[in-house]
Amino acid sequence: MNDLEELVLEAAQRFQAAQTVAELEDQKARYLGKGGQITEQLKGLAALPAESRKEAGARINRAKGEVEALLVARRAALADAQMEERLNAEAIDVTLPGRGRARGTIHPVIRTWRRVEEIFRSIGFAVADGPEIETDWYSFTALNNPENHPARSMQDTFYVDLRDAQGRLLNLRPHTSPMQVRYARSHKPPIKVVAPGRCYRVDNDATHSPMFHQVEGLWIDENVSFADLKGVYTEFLKRFFETDHLKVRFRPSFFPFTEPSAEIDMAFESGPNEGRWLEISGSGQVHPTVVQNMGLDPERYIGFAFGSGLERLTMLRYGIHDLRLFYDGDLRFLNQFR
Ligand code: PHE
Repeated sequence: MNDLEELVLEAAQRFQAAQTVAELEDQKARYLGKGGQITEQLKGLAALPAESRKEAGARINRAKGEVEALLVARRAALADAQMEERLNAEAIDVTLPGRGRARGTIHPVIRTWRRVEEIFRSIGFAVADGPEIETDWYSFTALNNPENHPARSMQDTFYVDLRDAQGRLLNLRPHTSPMQVRYARSHKPPIKVVAPGRCYRVDNDATHSPMFHQVEGLWIDENVSFADLKGVYTEFLKRFFETDHLKVRFRPSFFPFTEPSAEIDMAFESGPNEGRWLEISGSGQVHPTVVQNMGLDPERYIGFAFGSGLERLTMLRYGIHDLRLFYDGDLRFLNQFR
């Protein structure tokens, strides 16, 4: 073996020993760099006599070609190894079981809200939505509940430390009844609407929460009577509770915005709550002063209104005894409504 063959052999071993691209490039310099062994040999050709120069040059160039080929091969091998390593590190095991994703549920009160809308829509009522931050006029005054009247304390409410553009005091509405006047002022009779939504009062116990939901109902036309209220509301309850076996009672009461006024009580004729009367709604014939505030002639237009608690309806439908469960966010409770 001559010295050039030995050199190629040595280069092969060193390239093979290089484990990284950087190590490999260092080894390359040893042979092919500026002062590399092959480069030096090529430089030395000039000193040779002309007869042997051609043959020696060919030998050195052949060796150079071999070293270069070895280098390219090792480079490719190192790149392959690196890619292999990366693929292994990033491998995805498609045989692993999937991660389960819990599905949310519709909150029971919102279910009631939707059911109520659906039932009233089916008997010809429109559905409306109104502001939760109200003016004093809509929450009280327009509803025949004048300033400083003791009946206002029936709905002790949250006042907001803000006034609207007209300088009017604002409150978080204590009931959905402001929607009676708001809706009637922007629509023409016959007016037939339900307005579900959030309300706020300074109340907090097993049957009251500072934020709660009501649905307001209003039907105004030239000849709508208390009998219509009884008929419509009883029909609603039968559909809501999906039974004909319930009793409904209209118990005389007082609201400044209705005259006469009634609390609506109901009792199931069977089941765990059999025979127990439960209050679910305020109601009454809309007071002439309120009809006037609607921009209508009370001599011509008459009708009824009701305001029912959506939490109450939900508690009765599902047999829930503590309203606070609705707002604790406890999944053990909420998951039962899947
Ligand atoms: N707004 C009354 C309340 O919140 C309920 C009601 C509505 C009564 C409509 C009569 C007519 O208690």
